[in-house]
Amino acid sequence: MFDALELKKQFPIFSNHPDLTYLDNAATMQKPRCVLDAERFFYENHNANVHRGAHRLASAATDAYEGARQIVANFINAPSHEEIIFTRGTTEAINLVANTWGSTLSAGDEIILSALEHHANIVPWQMLAQRTGAVLKIIQLDQYGTVDLEHFSSLLSDKTKLVAISHVSNAIGSIQPIAWMCNAAHHAGAKVLVDGAQAVAHLEIDVQALGIDFYVFSGHKAYAPTGIGVLWVENNTLQKMPPWQGGGEMIASVSFSGSTYAAAPYRFEAGTPAIAQAVGLGAALTWLSGLDRSALLAHEHQLRQQLETGLAQIAGITIHGQSPNKAALTSMTFTTAHPYDVAQFLDHRGIAVRVGHHCAQPLLHTLGISGTLRASFAAYNTSQDVEYFLAVLTDTLEILS
Ligand SMILES: Cc1ncc(COP(=O)(O)O)c(C=O)c1O
Repeated sequence: MFDALELKKQFPIFSNHPDLTYLDNAATMQKPRCVLDAERFFYENHNANVHRGAHRLASAATDAYEGARQIVANFINAPSHEEIIFTRGTTEAINLVANTWGSTLSAGDEIILSALEHHANIVPWQMLAQRTGAVLKIIQLDQYGTVDLEHFSSLLSDKTKLVAISHVSNAIGSIQPIAWMCNAAHHAGAKVLVDGAQAVAHLEIDVQALGIDFYVFSGHKAYAPTGIGVLWVENNTLQKMPPWQGGGEMIASVSFSGSTYAAAPYRFEAGTPAIAQAVGLGAALTWLSGLDRSALLAHEHQLRQQLETGLAQIAGITIHGQSPNKAALTSMTFTTAHPYDVAQFLDHRGIAVRVGHHCAQPLLHTLGISGTLRASFAAYNTSQDVEYFLAVLTDTLEILS
């Protein structure tokens, strides 16, 4: 049994807002006390800049920062901590790949995306295509809102250089068959970037077993602070990637006749990094690893099932995304009410959800809608949260109809 009610006590936000029902976890998750403590402890005990200091605080700060890198590597089963690059988040990690590895592309090379991507996994590739003459190809979805594998296979060719795909759709929750897609892409000679923003807090990730080339995620969607994220790159590919931003930390030597660059991952971390946030990320992933991950997955699955069963009893609700392999979120629209109006009513009763296009406008366009109301779960959500949501939603729809 997964005791979410007990676990919820570790999150100060719920003591500060006893009436809060937080179902906006796909946007950002709340932080357990140990993560907040880790950041505070760092600032109170170890604060210094990393890597270049010759004093004890500098080495303590460096140990804490590099320790977090090792925790991340273990968490996604990366072969080495030297393949972990800290970024500001998923968005920056994808932009980094587009601006470094992407610079090897030329006119006519193809990048395959899917119709369900977040804008962060679309726009950097569009910008790269504009710079290089590369061409974007878009995988259609099947009737359940998962990538259509037949269509995907038909798009793969020797022109394909990259497949960039969300592990879990942030808008409709479908989980993509990543291992299968990596295998097919590699047969065509292409690399695969997986956007793990919505996956990493829910699914157990093994980048080696899945056969991924680039894995990216944001700390704040996995119980960690904002301002820190991760790019993991398979080592052979990583060694060939040129630097992106120039500055301190990323160099081996600098002179006015030219500069040489540090080895990975430092080559990609110009300037003072987000040290305390990295420490917070390490604490969050350690905390998450300490949970029974399969019990957590089952718990979140149960909450979504409870929600979707309840929604089916209320007239006039459409659930978008019916993939049999679906993560812990549900997107819905209403025949008699606008999602924004519903969300306002829910907010008055203490329920936080997200409404809008979820930064996935092409997907919503494909679905023929302009926005949905999304309820998304995390470890601290309970079956009472779902019951309360369903009761308040029923009242709201009665008022709005
Ligand atoms: C699937 C997906 N990709 C990328 C992002 C962007 O993440 P961030 O804003 O943390 O960079 C998000 C955020 O919602 C997301 O859900």
